[in-house]
Amino acid sequence: MAIGSELVEFPVRRPGEPFPPPQYADYRSANGMVYSIMPTGSKVWLATRYADVRTVLTDKRISSNPKHEGFPSAGRTGGVPGQDEIPGWFVALDPPEHDRFRKALIPEFTIRRIRELRPAIQEVVDDVLDNLAAKGGEADLVRDFTGPVPSLVIAALLGVPKVDRPFFEEHIRALVSMSATHDERENSTKYLLRYLNRLIKIKQHRPGDDLLSVLIKAGTLSVIEMSGAALLLLIAGQETTANNMALGMTTLLLNRQWIGDDRVVEEVLRYYSVANIVALRVATEDLEIGGQQIKAGDGIVPLLASANHDDSTFECPHAFDPTRSARHHVAFGFGVHQCLGQNLVRAELDIAYRSLFERLPDLELAVPAAELPFRYDGVIFGLEGLPVRWRAAETA
Ligand code: HEM
Repeated sequence: MAIGSELVEFPVRRPGEPFPPPQYADYRSANGMVYSIMPTGSKVWLATRYADVRTVLTDKRISSNPKHEGFPSAGRTGGVPGQDEIPGWFVALDPPEHDRFRKALIPEFTIRRIRELRPAIQEVVDDVLDNLAAKGGEADLVRDFTGPVPSLVIAALLGVPKVDRPFFEEHIRALVSMSATHDERENSTKYLLRYLNRLIKIKQHRPGDDLLSVLIKAGTLSVIEMSGAALLLLIAGQETTANNMALGMTTLLLNRQWIGDDRVVEEVLRYYSVANIVALRVATEDLEIGGQQIKAGDGIVPLLASANHDDSTFECPHAFDPTRSARHHVAFGFGVHQCLGQNLVRAELDIAYRSLFERLPDLELAVPAAELPFRYDGVIFGLEGLPVRWRAAETA
């Protein structure tokens, strides 16, 4: 394998356990910064060491804006949209433009605000669990639980009426689905943006206590920017949360001693690092990272899973150990774009794990662990399905 200034395979396909791919350790112990090529043909530097990943995510000469020549594309979804495609897609903006969105939204995602939202999250989880329990003893947790919950929670947060939430769920699923065509994804984007525009206009006349009404009242974003930002919340929070939820549930099913331990949430986030290559960047000036010269216009991808398994930062990183202190992991990124939804995610995972095992204490895997359909297309790590069973009488 060539490492250093020669090309390495990327994204690395995951042949099975263990996660992350063993190549990452080779990259870290060689140069740390390795050069590769994306499926789309664009060249990128991969940052693999914890320290270098944090540098990439904080250096002001490195941009999140896909308008810059050389910006990498992760392929599957056709790349990061720019402001002319989806105004308000603020993860693709650099400061100072980025700050206006972050300032408008951050009060809605503080620990205090999310604590207030716990009953609404619990209600969504309970509704989904009711449907799951009605299945009478067998289900696929990905299809019947972890898939629906994240989009339904964001829909509740945005103030989408309950009657419209199935529409939301359907289109978010189409948008993030591996099997959806480009046209299907474009259509779902269009429907969702159109719906959000209309909803915002209704809330301008009849505000509630939801996130969209708060944004309208703040008055710093246009209607179209609010719709784009809301769509970003829906998409950014769907596959990431759903897969963390499913992987965490699998881990709990296989390690029942951790059920009910709230430290599991943070370790699930670190251990699986599902959003491995979600943060995409490009250098806007020549610079040096980890002893490697990077040229203006070079793409850079900080590999979050690699950083979270760097043994210079985490002792025995490949061990799943909820007792460790993992709060400094970079599963949510780092710096100005660090995940806006992280407090929401923590609450959602905690509520989902607790509620599932309280409701179905004898839940078990319906297939041997080795047969679970893990998914690693290189973008989001996760599970295609999670077949489970339980004694139906318990849910009556
Ligand atoms: C940003 C991971 C759930 C909303 C990010 C970034 C990562 C990430 C790595 C940084 C991207 C970058 O630097 O370019 C995750 C993971 C999640 C999760 C692992 C679940 C376990 C959510 C949820 C929401 C959300 C539920 C919705 C509220 C966002 C937004 C950004 C973001 C809006 C962009 C922030 C900005 O640019 O300022 N997320 N995310 N995420 N995430 Fe999450």
